[in-house]
Amino acid sequence: MNKKLIVGNWKMNPMTIDEAQKIARKIKRTAPILVSTETVIAPPYPFIISCGSKKSIKNFHLGSQSVSIEINSGPFTGEVSASILKDVGVEYVIIGHSEQRARGESDVTVSKKALAVLTAGLSPIICVGEIVRDDAGAYLDTLKNQIKTSLEGIEQKFSADIILAYEPVWAIGAQEAMKNEDIHESSIFVKKVFSDIFGPEAGLKVKVLYGGSVNYRNAPDIISIGKVDGLLVGRESVNAPGFVELLKAVDVLK
Ligand code: 13P
Repeated sequence: MNKKLIVGNWKMNPMTIDEAQKIARKIKRTAPILVSTETVIAPPYPFIISCGSKKSIKNFHLGSQSVSIEINSGPFTGEVSASILKDVGVEYVIIGHSEQRARGESDVTVSKKALAVLTAGLSPIICVGEIVRDDAGAYLDTLKNQIKTSLEGIEQKFSADIILAYEPVWAIGAQEAMKNEDIHESSIFVKKVFSDIFGPEAGLKVKVLYGGSVNYRNAPDIISIGKVDGLLVGRESVNAPGFVELLKAVDVLK
């Protein structure tokens, strides 16, 4: 079964380890009862270990919100490598989020981080998305270039481990998500660009998530009408009751 992938990007939330563990506990309790959904939570670095579990939990995985481009250990103050993340149980790494791009992360850095993550045997969730839309469709070229440069230098053998998250920047932290029909159109476009790089088979298999103002109410339609393989959730992912509702609501979809 091709399971839906719901990723909670906690961003710089919550403010205490107690709160973090409370949210994680509720999600860890829900994940095993899901049938067609896998969930990932990506807490801030210092909370990751205590949000996980010594034993593996069905349908539950840990993620991180960033990673170093450096692969080997060494004198890199402030950096955290993919191997270190792997050692503490992380399986997915969010890369190229627009909030990181706004702080200077370039497409080239994104591709280096993706390579570091893949080399360590983890899955990168590579975020792409236009800042604004224009009627002439120039944003499609922007998106295409962003995807191509973010994947530059990544070998074909890694294509099955890559996840793409389409997050139109204007829909992040907004009142409403993008229209479902437009999400569908964009996800097809993202898959097409991926298949131009790695071939049609890889293009058919790649998981494309949608992110931007997803909540438990709009999530089912985004999955079924937007036809995406999963969601990258911000605010609603640190609202434990809402995120649990969201997981249950998408899990019953065919
Ligand atoms: P919101 O769901 O809060 O709009 O954030 C989306 C996001 O940036 C997820 O990565």
